[in-house]
Amino acid sequence: MAFFSMRHGGGSGYAPEQVEAGRKRSDWQVIKSLLPFLWPPRDVPNALNIKVRVLSALACIFAAKISTVIAPIYLKQAVDTLAPAQASEAAVAIPLALILAYGAARFMGQAFAQFRDAIFAKVGVRAVRRSASLVLAHLHRLSLRFHLERRTGALSRSIERGCSAIESLVSISLFNVLPTLLEVALVFGVLWAAFDIWFGVVAVVVVVIYVIFTGVITEWRLKHRRESNALDARANTRAIDSLLNYETVKTFGNEDLEVREYDRLMGQYEIASVRTQSSLALMNVGQALIISVGLAVLMAMAAAGKVAGNMTVGDFTLVNLYMIQLAQPLNFFGFVYRQIKTSLVDIEKMFDLMEVEPEIRDKPEAKPLAVAGGDVRFDNVSFAYDPRRPILKNVSFTVPAGKMTAFVGATGSGKSTIGRLLFRYYDIANGAITIDGQDIRDVQQASVRAAIGVVPQDTVLFNDTIRYNLAYAKPHASDDDIARAARLAHIHEFIASLPDGYNTLVGERGLKLSGGEKQRVAIARVILKDAPILLFDEATSALDTHTEKEIQANLREVSAGHTTLVIAHRLSTIVDADQILVLDDGEIIERGTHGALMALNGAYASAWLRQQKSMEAVQAAEAAVRESESGFRAARVAE
Ligand SMILES: Nc1ncnc2c1ncn2[C@@H]1O[C@H](COP(=O)(O)OP(=O)(O)OP(=O)(O)O)[C@@H](O)[C@H]1O
Ligand SMILES: [Mg+2]
Repeated sequence: MAFFSMRHGGGSGYAPEQVEAGRKRSDWQVIKSLLPFLWPPRDVPNALNIKVRVLSALACIFAAKISTVIAPIYLKQAVDTLAPAQASEAAVAIPLALILAYGAARFMGQAFAQFRDAIFAKVGVRAVRRSASLVLAHLHRLSLRFHLERRTGALSRSIERGCSAIESLVSISLFNVLPTLLEVALVFGVLWAAFDIWFGVVAVVVVVIYVIFTGVITEWRLKHRRESNALDARANTRAIDSLLNYETVKTFGNEDLEVREYDRLMGQYEIASVRTQSSLALMNVGQALIISVGLAVLMAMAAAGKVAGNMTVGDFTLVNLYMIQLAQPLNFFGFVYRQIKTSLVDIEKMFDLMEVEPEIRDKPEAKPLAVAGGDVRFDNVSFAYDPRRPILKNVSFTVPAGKMTAFVGATGSGKSTIGRLLFRYYDIANGAITIDGQDIRDVQQASVRAAIGVVPQDTVLFNDTIRYNLAYAKPHASDDDIARAARLAHIHEFIASLPDGYNTLVGERGLKLSGGEKQRVAIARVILKDAPILLFDEATSALDTHTEKEIQANLREVSAGHTTLVIAHRLSTIVDADQILVLDDGEIIERGTHGALMALNGAYASAWLRQQKSMEAVQAAEAAVRESESGFRAARVAE
């Protein structure tokens, strides 16, 4: 399992350019890190199966190459039998056995190659599966900051590319590089043994020149290829982003702009890509030249030998056949080299991702949080997302176990940030956050998160059924539990009224539900999670005042006995909080109960009066709407 972690240096935090620039590591290091896919450590499930397959595939390769190298020898003997060296030998026997042996050897060469493919398939696919799972697990370990800074489209493409690159590199090295090396060595040996070392040397020299030529040209072509890959990725990120923002694009009528920009990027990709492809033709011509010259030289040598009388016509055929056989995998070698190099690039990209260290890490000795009542304390907390711009400044407060504290303040004053810090999405620069006296940096993150139920400001749902989204808080929840939570959150009736009920699909990110419906799903989810500490980030902001009142009553019910942090824009919803904190630009400027703050006649009191005034108008309008709604409902019932 250790193959991704074994090349880690230290260093925490994450700079986006780290991934983009693609730090260079040696190709050999990359190749070495793939070995565990071929020879998995014992703790990997099915390790033995994989090892047996790899060994069998190696045996097949060996058998295939032996057969391939033996076949021409039978042919040579058959030719020699048909064209006897002494013209005096009158009767020419048909060398049936030799011809059959030649056919059989050729067949075996092909058959073993196919066996190898069949046996090895599982190893390759398993490598893709394991690497993909490892990357996904790693990405989930990474911190929020990383994910906010990533473009998901580019991320998924580099994972996809990286994983298929692992498969192709693993199989290519085993299917092509190794067998070709073996064949070259065998041919060298046979030529040396049968004639003299020079035949072997010429064959090997041709192969070496071929490989070097291919390598140099491919290296040059790769530069362009990298460029076209980058352009391709950029164009795709752009396209995905525009589709994700479908509604925004429509509201601003910017379809043409999006397509034009995409097309412009694809145009650059086109240029780079055409250059890559046309340079391929140049390379293929050079390769053909090298092989043809080599073939001609060897055949001339064999012909000279025949004339001198120390070689036969069969030998002449043998030399020809070996060279042509060798050319076959070599012809493929151009592609293989390219594949290896691009695979290395793709894999390296993925490794760069794997090397990004999670920003928030458990201390080695961290224990799970021991929750007693859920007493939450912020002690002189200062925090900045970016060191250049402080967000929270010396924030201190206590939410005693089982009590409710409300946070109010202008937009951007840092209310949601307090929730994110409590959830330990980020570590703080100064001060301490404790739950029941334990600093959240000293306990396991997972246990902190398990202790807090959050209704976020923007609820995003999985593109699945309502039931799935509700049960996400508690995967083994019974339908009764789910319905009970949905009733408490006042969403059960709505769900039951849908044609597909709990099986209704909510659309990507939950966009088929209204804002208020989504929030209620989130509230039901938190009820199911049943955590000791609750955090409502404006859980009622998208609701009309009537439903808000209902939910408010239920929230009180749900939050009874829970430590509750409520972030609110509508002050009317938090009048009975045990404590209200007024935030302004990252600082707590007022604190106390509703009554105390009203008496203070400060920022809170003036905000309250402002809201009351506009509320009266809103309530009057809503009452009218409700009337007509109940009219509709009555009409429906009557039907
Ligand atoms: N990931 C981030 N990186 C950098 N700055 C951020 C990030 N998230 C929030 N901010 C900034 O931090 C400030 C506080 O944000 P926060 O979400 O806490 O505000 P808020 O009080 O919840 O506002 P609202 O009432 O609009 O929800 C904002 O000015 C915001 O721009
Ligand atoms: Mg907020």
